[in-house]
Amino acid sequence: EKGGYDYFMLKEIAEQPKAVADTLLGRIDTSGALTLDEVRISAPELREVDKVVIVACGTAFHAGLIAKYAIEHWTRIPCEVELASEFRYRDPILDARSLVIAISQSGETMDTLMALRHAREQGSRVLAICNTNGSTIPRESDAVLYTHAGPEVAVASTKAFLTQLVACYLVALYLGQVRGTKWGDEIRAVIRDLAEISGAVERVLETMEPVRALARSLAGKKTVLFLGRHVGYPVALEGALKLKELAYMHAEGFAAGELKHGPIALIEDDLPVVVVVPSPRGRSVLHDKIVSNIQEIRARGARTIVIAEEGDEAVVPYADHLIRIPVTPTLLQPLVATVPLQVFACELATARGNEVDQPRNLAKSVTVE
Ligand code: F6R
Repeated sequence: EKGGYDYFMLKEIAEQPKAVADTLLGRIDTSGALTLDEVRISAPELREVDKVVIVACGTAFHAGLIAKYAIEHWTRIPCEVELASEFRYRDPILDARSLVIAISQSGETMDTLMALRHAREQGSRVLAICNTNGSTIPRESDAVLYTHAGPEVAVASTKAFLTQLVACYLVALYLGQVRGTKWGDEIRAVIRDLAEISGAVERVLETMEPVRALARSLAGKKTVLFLGRHVGYPVALEGALKLKELAYMHAEGFAAGELKHGPIALIEDDLPVVVVVPSPRGRSVLHDKIVSNIQEIRARGARTIVIAEEGDEAVVPYADHLIRIPVTPTLLQPLVATVPLQVFACELATARGNEVDQPRNLAKSVTVE
């Protein structure tokens, strides 16, 4: 049932191109527009939405953090992202014009369920993004957009995360389409880019051998740090979470701009620091800033592991290890940038003799608060 792989996690990492393609399937019509029939919240209602609030836990929360960039950019609707476990306890401000998006692979996470119940009590509409047909979260939501990752068995989420991202992009684009904001060239172009992204994920998977070798060489380390900016920041958080869960190592993700506000004090000789570099095209300011960040940490002895787009030559002099990812639009980069981090964590776990599919102390579905 592991299809020739040693672990479910490896199989599920390998299934990501298909999972991404399946989640897009049938949702883009021949004219290049989105048809999300399952989103049973009417177009007039969606036009009334004045705030989007995303609630989720763990890896799904990281998908939500990335969704915020896409939603605000493509729709200009303010978007908040909150850990489901914190949400209802702070008496959040919600009403009938708030659209709450609950993201959950299992559809059974108690924290997320309680957050969505609270939102519905306040009169908000809830859209679930979920991977498990007929589970509790979609049953209790007003609408659901299913991710088509197929069953995810390994405790650490991989393909479900990529499909959650795809679903988030679809919702963001759909909101933009329905509301007419920025609808037109940019959104159409992104829809075309999304249709190609499965191939890009496939290409990343073909180049992972050096990442595995690097991971094995770091098996004796105690700490790995992850840095990113913009959508690369949640990717850094996800890379760190994967490493904690699987390798039981101290791992932290930071927004690279925060370095000088504290974390740079952690940098010491030969400390591995993974840096997710945004595309040099488009938001080039961000790219230049992160190149300076790489220089700063390297000058203090960090061993830099740089994830950068093909053709990005500016990072080369400062990268002790360079991991190339395909050229993608900035907002979609997490779909390709996360994959090496999954492989890295999985290989480190194996090198440290850990149980990859069943990390200690964790359960696949957390049905208690
Ligand atoms: C991380 C992981 C967890 C889950 C979290 C939410 O690899 O698996 O952090 O993402 O427990 O679970 P779902 O998505 O089922 O609500």
